[in-house]
Amino acid sequence: MTQDELKDAVAAAAIDEIRPRLERDSVLGIGTGSTANRFIDRLAPLRDDFRGAVASSEASAERLRGHGIEVFELNSVGTVPFYIDGADEVNAHLHLIKGGGGALTREKIVAACAERFICIVDASKRVERLGEFPLPVEVIPMARSYVARELVRLGADPVYREGVVTDNGNQILDCYDFPIDDPLTMEARLNAIVGVVTNGLFAARGADVLLLGTEQGVERTTPA
Ligand code: 5RP
Repeated sequence: MTQDELKDAVAAAAIDEIRPRLERDSVLGIGTGSTANRFIDRLAPLRDDFRGAVASSEASAERLRGHGIEVFELNSVGTVPFYIDGADEVNAHLHLIKGGGGALTREKIVAACAERFICIVDASKRVERLGEFPLPVEVIPMARSYVARELVRLGADPVYREGVVTDNGNQILDCYDFPIDDPLTMEARLNAIVGVVTNGLFAARGADVLLLGTEQGVERTTPA
């Protein structure tokens, strides 16, 4: 199967996961990226079975609206029963690296407000140790060089993602050559650097359910 077919399979599995629990007043949290897009497309026929969605990016909001799904501000919703999103890497504890698409801050905020975070990925995203994928860090623009120096002190090789401005008006540093043995500690340490808005480690609030697309079918797991 191709990677795209595996992404399709997990998007379909996520629909099966939430469908029995959808209520007319449900507002769903929806992530960002090519896997999340496939989920959005499969959600469209169910649009009359729930109230709407909160999106983790302008791009996803636009796609949802294009399907006739109402998009709400998170502040007017409070909590969401589900947050469905992809990831760049996932380990056995369902700790994640996210932010390859640059939406990490809003993704983390919506995930924080979710009763259940359902992560949908193809098998290439599963790793023993996080950090092969360069870890994104969103920074306030004036702090970029300072934060980069602090990241070097922590052992990373930060690279400015040139030309990218996040939905929040900020910039991104991608941390290369940065294997992460203790995601919980590193997430907190990175957050403590002045000028960091968010980092792409989702360990303090990882996924609750992983739907992993493999050649043998979709595997459903919960944290080890
Ligand atoms: C965007 C993300 C995405 O979930 C992550 O990059 C995976 O994307 P894709 O589903 O396209 O592989 O974190 O910021």
